[in-house]
Amino acid sequence: MSSSHQTTRRQFLQSATAAGAAGFAFPSVKRAFGYESPNERPVFATIGLRNQGWAITSKSFKFADFAALADVDANVLGANVEKTEKAQKKKPDSYKDYRKVLDRKDIDAVMIATPDHWHTKIAVEAMLAGKDVYCEKPLTLTIAEGKLIEKIVKETGRVFQVGTMQRTESGQRFLQAIALVRAGRIGTVKKVTCGIGGFGSSPVIPVAPVPEELDWDFWLGPAPKVPYRALPEMRKGYGGGVPLYSNCHYAFRNWHEYSGGKLTDWGAHHVDIACWAIGASDTGPSKVTPLNYKLPVEYKDGHPLVDDQYNIATEYNIRADMPNDIELLITNEGDNGILFEGTKGRFFVNRGKIVGKPVEDLKDNPLPDGAIEEVYGGKVSENHTANFIEGINARKQPISDVWSHNRMLEICHLSNIAMRLDRPLDWNPVKREIIRDEEANSFLTRESRRGYEINM
Ligand SMILES: NC(=O)c1ccc[n+]([C@@H]2O[C@H](COP(=O)([O-])OP(=O)(O)OC[C@H]3O[C@@H](n4cnc5c(N)ncnc54)[C@H](O)[C@@H]3O)[C@@H](O)[C@H]2O)c1
Repeated sequence: MSSSHQTTRRQFLQSATAAGAAGFAFPSVKRAFGYESPNERPVFATIGLRNQGWAITSKSFKFADFAALADVDANVLGANVEKTEKAQKKKPDSYKDYRKVLDRKDIDAVMIATPDHWHTKIAVEAMLAGKDVYCEKPLTLTIAEGKLIEKIVKETGRVFQVGTMQRTESGQRFLQAIALVRAGRIGTVKKVTCGIGGFGSSPVIPVAPVPEELDWDFWLGPAPKVPYRALPEMRKGYGGGVPLYSNCHYAFRNWHEYSGGKLTDWGAHHVDIACWAIGASDTGPSKVTPLNYKLPVEYKDGHPLVDDQYNIATEYNIRADMPNDIELLITNEGDNGILFEGTKGRFFVNRGKIVGKPVEDLKDNPLPDGAIEEVYGGKVSENHTANFIEGINARKQPISDVWSHNRMLEICHLSNIAMRLDRPLDWNPVKREIIRDEEANSFLTRESRRGYEINM
């Protein structure tokens, strides 16, 4: 890309952004070039590469050039630089420290696929550095982080896509599900069940030598300083190639310090679709009740009493009382997917199928033309990255906007808090506060480790 062209494009983006930030109504100007041309494509960088980072990077080569990659694990970084060079025929620069990426003026947007405890810090700093952001779900580790991200999106006018790609992909099955609900094909919605699976418990995981290639302190970042732990058995299959039991790569999902477990891992996908379908993307539940659940270790005052075993809930049935008397059930039981039940029928949808009588009835009584596009807000994009880039070009928020994401993620975070404290929580969706429960409200935020506060 020639530098003169780059400057013109950057000036354009900056002025469009400034205009957007002022009134928060993005001007619908189109970038004066399209990403079809190899010389006019947006310049991206990915931060956090091992599993999902590579998935979203490789899905994006068609639309963007990757100028840089960052990871705190030198082996992961090296392997992904090689794969990226092979794919785009140009070697990206590589950094351990993501801040070097943010310092670069030639990078338009970053894709963030670190563990969850890093998302907010990197995303906020990236926006303040003038980058548009694609950040993996779950966007946050706490409810307060969600509010901060919303504020910074608003102030900076950056375009922000959350990685909940079910909104765009999976053969449009989820969009069809929402269109069915909206068309009244199950009557009045009474209950939505999100089957998100569960994680198992772990044996005691001993302190282990930190792998030479890994900067453990940097991996921990804002989380409390603790020793690296791992057992020798390796994870196989999806996300494999790392210790099955550890407090680091992939296994971070099993620790409250870095993640919200399945509740936010898969909840971020299915509760998102559920809330979208029932029109609850800008509100929240009045109450979240842990009907039954199992924590793998003993807890006191909301905190695990041991630090050498997975501490995320392994089994659960949680009820959220949603507006219009709709019961939202989140469970580890049954199939992974979403069951919609109404006064006139029910159907089930997941990434691989959509089944039930209302779906069979479509043969004789199809949805009206344009029903899916109406849900999506226009022509459905080729994939979730394409949708992000369309947002960048038009300076408008993509399909997985931070506001609707945070709203549904609040249900997932509240579910975890309710289980940790072993009590139902009353929620004020206007103030976004737990009612009359100071202790529970203290879980809406977390303290960053010294030296890893968000740089604002
Ligand atoms: N959209 C989806 O369907 C989907 C699927 C899988 C994972 N995810 C999300 O992607 C994120 C990552 O999950 P994963 O399975 O790839 O985890 P992972 O542990 O396999 O990979 C995370 C990578 O981030 C790196 N990292 C950690 N801190 C970093 C930092 N400060 N700077 C740069 N790199 C850093 C690690 O070294 C590692 O390479 C999670 O938030 C997860 O929920 C989303």
